[in-house]
Amino acid sequence: MYKIFFSLVFKRLDPEQAHHLAFRWIRLAARVPVLRTFLAAALAPRHKELRTEAFGLRMHGPFGLAAGFDKNAVGIDGMAMLGFDHVEIGTVTGEPHPGNPKQRLFRLVKDRALINRMGFNNDGSLRVAARLASRTPVFRTVVGVNIGKTKAVPEEEAVADYVKSAERLAPYADYLVVNVSSPNTPGLRDLQATQALRPLLSAVREAADGAVSARRVPLLVKIAPDLAGEDIDAVADLAVELGLDGIIATNTTIARDGLGLKSDPSLVKETGGLSGAPLKERSLEVLRRLYARVGDRITLVGVGGVENAEDAWQRILAGATLVQGYSAFIYEGPFYARALHKGLAARLRTSPYATLAEAVGADVRKTA
Ligand SMILES: Cc1cc2nc3c(=O)[nH]c(=O)nc-3n(C[C@H](O)[C@H](O)[C@H](O)COP(=O)(O)O)c2cc1C
Repeated sequence: MYKIFFSLVFKRLDPEQAHHLAFRWIRLAARVPVLRTFLAAALAPRHKELRTEAFGLRMHGPFGLAAGFDKNAVGIDGMAMLGFDHVEIGTVTGEPHPGNPKQRLFRLVKDRALINRMGFNNDGSLRVAARLASRTPVFRTVVGVNIGKTKAVPEEEAVADYVKSAERLAPYADYLVVNVSSPNTPGLRDLQATQALRPLLSAVREAADGAVSARRVPLLVKIAPDLAGEDIDAVADLAVELGLDGIIATNTTIARDGLGLKSDPSLVKETGGLSGAPLKERSLEVLRRLYARVGDRITLVGVGGVENAEDAWQRILAGATLVQGYSAFIYEGPFYARALHKGLAARLRTSPYATLAEAVGADVRKTA
């Protein structure tokens, strides 16, 4: 059904326009009490066996919405209604930013992929914090807040820009993510080098602690799939040393491996971050490497090319406690999260593991 609708409607629209249209419908549906109750019952069913805990937060299931879909925290309940058990908003930057000139989002339908160079288009930390402060949640969803650097801010002032966002947003964040891995803000990914990352993460930790005294806001870092093996290890070691709560692997890639055979070669040439199916293998590889390094000392979140329950299961076996998706939602439609949680529950039942927690990293431990 959705696939026909996608071909007839969304595919004919500019991808960004299609996103805004679909998101508007989702938000509208979530405003109508009877409709949202019905949709949530159908799309966000609870599977007892999928109950999980990550960085001290209890969740109904491990699967959530990756950052970038709801950059401004305008549709958290709508996405929860569709079955995403946690919603990561952002990336939010210290100051508002319109992002890069359009067209900046491209669909590679045959490859089930997207290329984007959105460039952190967002309302900025002040407005997003105000929006979160005035929000009356309908569904109990874990809300992650992903922060990044304002493009116009010079690199030497990057820490102050992240700190500004952390101070404003930490009070409303169930967890906070430092994004140093989007390819569309010049110089951002250089912050992944440990000499830059150490002061940044320490300052954000301090800012979050200063802004929120009643609880310790979990702090995570999101990394790129394009890091070399030893750089992944270095980030992992630093995360352990600093007592970070989690690592999200991965953001989009600047690589174009295996593309161009199916999709239009002119699209493949577009600059930006590639996401979706072609990212699957590399994201899984990065996750595996991280788990081999940190084991259970740090919570890992697996994202990148997760299209179905089997993909999510493979992430869990590779070390992910939580799993996220974005691109496949565009291609799979409103039943994506439901199918994923349902399939995951079935997969767990037929596995040798009694709980999800037992399955986390099982494949990596076996080969160690
Ligand atoms: C259009 C688009 C915008 C994105 N924006 C952000 C962002 O603002 N911050 C971020 O951390 N990740 C962003 N991402 C990356 C996703 O969160 C995710 O890490 C990546 O797309 C891989 O997952 P997927 O293959 O399921 O899409 C964006 C992805 C897409 C497709």
